[in-house]
Amino acid sequence: MFRRFYPAEMAESSYSIDYESLYEQGYRGIIYDIDNTLVEHGADANEQVIELFRRLCKIGFRICLLSNNKAPRVRRFYRGAKIKGVKLHYIFDAHKPSTKNYRKAMLVMRTTKKNTLFVGDQLFTDVYGANRAGIKSFLVKPINKKEEIQIVFKRRLERIVLHVYRKERMEHLKQSNIVLIGFMGCGKSTIGHRLAEKYNFSFVDTDLLIEQKAGCTISELFATKGEKYFRDMETDILWELVRKSKRQIIATGGGMPVREENQKLLRKLGVVVFLNLTPETVLKRLEGDTTRPLLQKATKEQEVRHLLTERKFVYQMTAHKTVRVDDKSVEEVVKEIADSI
Ligand code: S3P
Repeated sequence: MFRRFYPAEMAESSYSIDYESLYEQGYRGIIYDIDNTLVEHGADANEQVIELFRRLCKIGFRICLLSNNKAPRVRRFYRGAKIKGVKLHYIFDAHKPSTKNYRKAMLVMRTTKKNTLFVGDQLFTDVYGANRAGIKSFLVKPINKKEEIQIVFKRRLERIVLHVYRKERMEHLKQSNIVLIGFMGCGKSTIGHRLAEKYNFSFVDTDLLIEQKAGCTISELFATKGEKYFRDMETDILWELVRKSKRQIIATGGGMPVREENQKLLRKLGVVVFLNLTPETVLKRLEGDTTRPLLQKATKEQEVRHLLTERKFVYQMTAHKTVRVDDKSVEEVVKEIADSI
């Protein structure tokens, strides 16, 4: 019943979205609501906005502000946010959820509904409009919880829709699994254990399943049978999990999504979450590690950089959701995953 109001994604804030990954997935334009999405209602552009827009343009995004507010307010914000080199457009009096100005925004950014994102804090205007226009929408938490009276009423209705939305997602998830993918050292096992506790799911680790089956460690398996043998075992394990797995948090080996066959199986298993991290974080976390056969050479640093560059795209294409883990605590990552699935 409420489906038309459901966001494609939910995020803590406009500033916590993993824009780099979205660009790599092919998105090129972002439409932003202003009030309570980028700044407090009525506020001017601040350093955080300028920094975000600078970052987005450096990545390669075009940006369009789309506000239902009047010209003077939107122009004032635009002037404060527009800095040299930033490709920024604005549309005021947008009449969201009417789709007309979403289309106009894509026209000025020269993007299409396939490669455009929308970020806003309201369901019945922002998200509904984006859905009607066929654009992927992000619902963010309003910056200021204290709002004008006409919005307070809408927020009550929003809460009802979001409650049903979360309940439906939870019901769906209970019949499925959460699959964690990502490079060695990204924390799939640690985060997986915490998620298992949170959702009351069981935890499995494909590397451990392989070790049990093979009766030896991964390093021994690589040394005695070779990498191909290990990769075949990974695919076998995935088939087994697809057949019987339900209500499980599944941590996978870092190379699991590389095989094309595995990518489909992983997505079949449930919601796939990519834990994204930089090579610097990998090197810091895996200093002195002797359990990963692929990283035992003297050229470990080059190996990490090379493999990560090669695999990043594969991780992104396989995952339903991406979460950055650098400099975040386990609890922060778990919360971000839970909020987004
Ligand atoms: C590998 C990652 C390891 C393990 C094996 C190969 C890889 O798992 O499956 O050493 O190719 O990245 P972790 O990601 O859990 O370290």
